[in-house]
Amino acid sequence: MHPDLAIEYNFPLKTLNSFGIDARAQCYARIESLAQLRAVLAEPALAALPRLVLGGGSNIVLGGDYAGLVLHMALPGMELVGADAHAHYVRAGAGVNWHAFVQWTLARGLGGLENLSLIPGTVGAAPIQNIGAYGVEIKDVFHSLTVFDSASGATFALDREACRFGYRDSVFKHAEGRDWLIVDVTFALPTSWQANLRYAELAQALAERGVDAPTARQVADTVIAIRQRKLPDPALIGNAGSFFKNPVVTRAECLALLERYPALVHHSQADGGEKLAAGWLIDQCGWKGRNLGPAGVYPKQALVLVNNGGASGADILRLAQAIQRDVQARYGVLLAPEPVFV
Ligand code: EPU
Repeated sequence: MHPDLAIEYNFPLKTLNSFGIDARAQCYARIESLAQLRAVLAEPALAALPRLVLGGGSNIVLGGDYAGLVLHMALPGMELVGADAHAHYVRAGAGVNWHAFVQWTLARGLGGLENLSLIPGTVGAAPIQNIGAYGVEIKDVFHSLTVFDSASGATFALDREACRFGYRDSVFKHAEGRDWLIVDVTFALPTSWQANLRYAELAQALAERGVDAPTARQVADTVIAIRQRKLPDPALIGNAGSFFKNPVVTRAECLALLERYPALVHHSQADGGEKLAAGWLIDQCGWKGRNLGPAGVYPKQALVLVNNGGASGADILRLAQAIQRDVQARYGVLLAPEPVFV
């Protein structure tokens, strides 16, 4: 076996998943380089195991101990790789903490990622669900990424089109991209930066601070303040951010719902659909702040499920299903979970 490789057995995952679920991995490898990744997968006994690729662990629900190999993607590095008339190109290793990377770009005077401040997780996980907040998704500032294809052993680059980004979606969530491990990601941060204040709550928060032409730093600080006010810090209360995606219904379905529920929160989409606020639907069903065993709904944001201490994956799932049942019964809408159940 490769001399730098330390495979751990029966390895605790509690601090490696943001829900803080107490589960263990049969085998665990921390991957800090492409060479290490190749070496682990060159071991037939390891390559044959079921595999969980772990980034920041902020979008998973562990159903119990993992009977397989956990590949903890910890590839480091942040660098400015180029610039032209349109953009500065910055690249980060898959294992870099997302928020640390956003801060790194801001410290260099580069705007573009500020609306995505304080999102938990890693750079390498960000494209998988096309992370988005406050009017920006990473696809808006994405340039390309490098993948390692665990089926063929090849590495290659994918551009934005090849990643097939959608709302909390990408090629990596579909069959074609299932064997691809993201190694690093490059972003194109616009030279002619302009604040993106399309999200009303952000614009309003900046106005309240008396800022009318904000810098990227000021936008970041405001996003951080909003998130800290509404969302639980996973270091203190286990959670995985928004637990459900905001459902998209047809305009006709939305109109029918509006007749019965005039206060329904909805946003028209470019493709003619209407995106509903899952947090509002859950809140209206009376779940905000309610607990089911050790799992609960965060009192300040109904879209976030929390581990109040000692919750298992099954406890989280039971709560999620109870919420789905109530929302479906009342609004006829099935909420789809955002995290991956392992
Ligand atoms: N609402 C309620 N009650 C609640 C929560 C929300 O009535 O308990 C209403 C709000 O008043 C608002 C609407 O629902 O009218 C939408 O709420 P909010 O602006 O807080 O955003 P969200 O739709 O709940 C989405 C993303 C978040 C992202 C924010 C800001 C999804 C699934 N979630 O939340 O992303 O930070 O917008 O852009 O798209 C994440 O994915 O983990 C995440 C936190």
